[in-house]
Amino acid sequence: MNKSMDPAATSIWLNGQAVTATPAPGERLSETLREHLGARDVKVGCNAGDCGACTVLVDNAPVCACLMPTQQAFGRQVDTLAGLMATDALAQALAEQFQNHGAAQCGICTPGMMVSAVALLRTVAAPSTAQVSDALGGVLCRCTGYRAIIDAVVATGSGVAPECAPSSAGVGTAIRRVDGLAKVNGTEAFGDDIAPPGTLEIAVIRAPHAHAQFDLGDVAGFVAATPGLMASLTAADVPGVNRFGVIPAFMDQPVFAEKINRFRGEAIAAVIGTPEAISRFDPQSFPVTWRPLAAVSDVDTAQANGAPQLHDGHPANVMCGGLVTCGDPAAAFSRADVVVEGRYRSGFVEHAYIEPEAGFARMVDGRIEVHACTQAPVMDREALEIILGRPASDIRIVPTAVGGGFGSKLDVSVQPILALATLKTGLPVRLTYSRTDSMQSTTKRHPSDITLRIGATQDGRICGFDFYGAFNTGAYASWGPTVANRVPVHASGPYRVADYRAESKGIYTHCPPSGAFRGFGVPQSAIAQECLFDDLAEKLEMDPLEFRILNALENGTPTVCGQVFEQGVGIKACLEALRPAWAAERNWAAAHSTDTTRYGVGLAAGWYGCGNTSLPNPSTIKSGIRADGTVVLHQGAMDIGQGANTVIAQIFATALGVGTDLVTLIGPDTDRTPDAGKTSASRQTYVSGNAARLSGESLRAQILACVNASETAVLTFAPGMIHIDDAGTRHEVPLPTPDAEGLTFKAEETYDPPTRPLDQNGQGAPYAQFGYAAHLVVVAVDMAFGTVKPVKFVAAHDVGRAINPMLVEGQVAGGIAQGLGMALMEEYIPGRTENLHDYLIPTIGDIPPIETIIIEEPDAHGPYGAKGLGEHVLIPTAPAILNAIKHATGARITRVPATPARVRAAIDAVRHE
Ligand code: FES
Ligand code: FES
Repeated sequence: MNKSMDPAATSIWLNGQAVTATPAPGERLSETLREHLGARDVKVGCNAGDCGACTVLVDNAPVCACLMPTQQAFGRQVDTLAGLMATDALAQALAEQFQNHGAAQCGICTPGMMVSAVALLRTVAAPSTAQVSDALGGVLCRCTGYRAIIDAVVATGSGVAPECAPSSAGVGTAIRRVDGLAKVNGTEAFGDDIAPPGTLEIAVIRAPHAHAQFDLGDVAGFVAATPGLMASLTAADVPGVNRFGVIPAFMDQPVFAEKINRFRGEAIAAVIGTPEAISRFDPQSFPVTWRPLAAVSDVDTAQANGAPQLHDGHPANVMCGGLVTCGDPAAAFSRADVVVEGRYRSGFVEHAYIEPEAGFARMVDGRIEVHACTQAPVMDREALEIILGRPASDIRIVPTAVGGGFGSKLDVSVQPILALATLKTGLPVRLTYSRTDSMQSTTKRHPSDITLRIGATQDGRICGFDFYGAFNTGAYASWGPTVANRVPVHASGPYRVADYRAESKGIYTHCPPSGAFRGFGVPQSAIAQECLFDDLAEKLEMDPLEFRILNALENGTPTVCGQVFEQGVGIKACLEALRPAWAAERNWAAAHSTDTTRYGVGLAAGWYGCGNTSLPNPSTIKSGIRADGTVVLHQGAMDIGQGANTVIAQIFATALGVGTDLVTLIGPDTDRTPDAGKTSASRQTYVSGNAARLSGESLRAQILACVNASETAVLTFAPGMIHIDDAGTRHEVPLPTPDAEGLTFKAEETYDPPTRPLDQNGQGAPYAQFGYAAHLVVVAVDMAFGTVKPVKFVAAHDVGRAINPMLVEGQVAGGIAQGLGMALMEEYIPGRTENLHDYLIPTIGDIPPIETIIIEEPDAHGPYGAKGLGEHVLIPTAPAILNAIKHATGARITRVPATPARVRAAIDAVRHE
């Protein structure tokens, strides 16, 4: 670049080119770059300097573009990821290492991470782990657990990198993500990256009270009198039913509240206008009057006499409940030699994906087309059918890339508002939630209030288990019924408990809806169960690991639902795998603890049933061969960063007998891909993976049948032709005339896990497979301040078969980071923690080294033996940390997060006992 050109006062040297901008006064550089200069590779996660997603280089220094007024960048050199990738060898090397290490999962943080890393590598050629941590400390990632990112940057500097398996490799190999390049070069298009600049925008008006009655004023007059506003939306504009919900029997949430709102942040209306008008719009000016009403915010007050009732037909605000019981718990407790009991509580946990909900909608030939980030495109379409009062054929959902979901993007958010707005105006529209919109209005992890009593006989066998959990489901049901049903099935943990009772209730409150969040209530119940297991072991004077191994489920022993797995039960192997570290780390902790800093070692286990609980849960995958010999896979399973695109392609390619790199992915798109179900409940590797396996096998069988070739034949695809090499003979099969979709051979297959309904006692076969896990953690506790710092994790996971070991490790590290956050720092409080500086999530400096041990106890139902993994990974993390704190200090924490104040109070209580 020729800096002597002295660019004009309104010019920026953007990626080496002089570009002119005319920003509004105070306009953010991120806004100018994205909306006026086409640099959509700059991502926005908070607009407040908290997430670092918007990081760019300004005169070679990393800067949050959302905090810099564009005017300050005039005459200066601004580099974004895309620009660096075009010209900078360091950025290009970094991109290779990010892909080699699986350091980009969803990819929304990747531009900020990579730009920050380029700045570091320019000044420190071979940075250490600590230097990388420092330099990238301002960029948040919610997916990876950061370790792969650190490794990728260190490897770029050192030039020492792991060899990835060739991209052609199939099941069981650590190939790079098939969709990884777009994540590291800045071309991945997320929900806010689709709409053309200048598209009409939407602002949502939200309730400022937890519970209130409201009256709308002259909305039409307000819109007419406000320059740039074109239309409004209220409940009156919903042509179908003003309700949505993910479970038909519990569809209770309005798109726009009518007369009464039930939580702070609930949408009551929206306005549509030009980008300038929407950026000027002050929600306080909207014509509405409020009359606050009494509100309940926790499960106790919500069930008290005289409490305001949220929904008709749900006395005492009980949404629904779940029950599993077997044996005779009362008799078992009378036989028990020792009994422990406790009450464990947790708060709301925010998903805090770095990409807020966003999308774009337009009318195309009379149909409504919604492009938005989602985990469940077909469910989105079903919701819009009801809300819009239109058939499915009128609606197309085209998911964008998803910048993290973790369960919350299973529910619709922007989609109904976008669809209503384009329907009303006839024009394209876009809507991106602000961080506050996102945190106020979308679902959270259920707060829990659990009481649990467990007995054991002197020989260490569990003898009696009585669990009750009340879950705060917020103002609307969302996935609350799933949590209520799933928790009693899982509350035993992966152990043999013959005499068992577990009851749960979901309770409505005037809080944001609680929904799906990695684990559906099981992480909360595991805290109570695994902490009390340690207490029980202590009373029995048994080693906690040996106590767990003694009681662990095995092949052939019934679960608390009476389900017997004759194969595939891997919990014992997970626990055994921790044995060496358990002994070594306890010795290390004892040797290094001081009066001021005490080290503790804790462990916990977990299990998780993959897929829906006792409900149909099919996935359909279509594949085919085009006339030019291209192998296509219509893959409708949403990849939200976890790696479904890669894993399902590896499974399909292995079944078909071709290299994974030969597979061309299509979808998801409700017009083009069959329904692969939602990305939730750790079901995609297992369920959609099986559908992909069946599709690949069917396609192969059709092709082999053309020449009666044997199972071992080798297929080669060419334009117009398939070559089949079989036992030394080459056959040539001309490709038939393509069908309307352009496919010559085609195979569409469905897989639905075999389950049986639960009876009134919760007995049945709720899942075809479980995955298993056990975590060990070493923590350092500052005895004066109560701060807790994990210093090492060892995580053993039974995944049945690791389809892609690198992606397995990525899931484990990301899940541990979220479990750590839940254990130590995260609590969403409406009105108080509605942004990413008051709501803390783990940063790069919070995550210690993680040793992942992959256990492969094959499952008869899984594709090539594979089990689901996504949810399992954070279930043992929090209880392992709480057990480590107890080991270090003697203090038992019973409420998460274990903030320094709570830990210090618990330590003080022990000292004064
Ligand atoms: S968008 Fe700039 S720091 Fe989050
Ligand atoms: S990969 Fe970092 S936020 Fe998703």
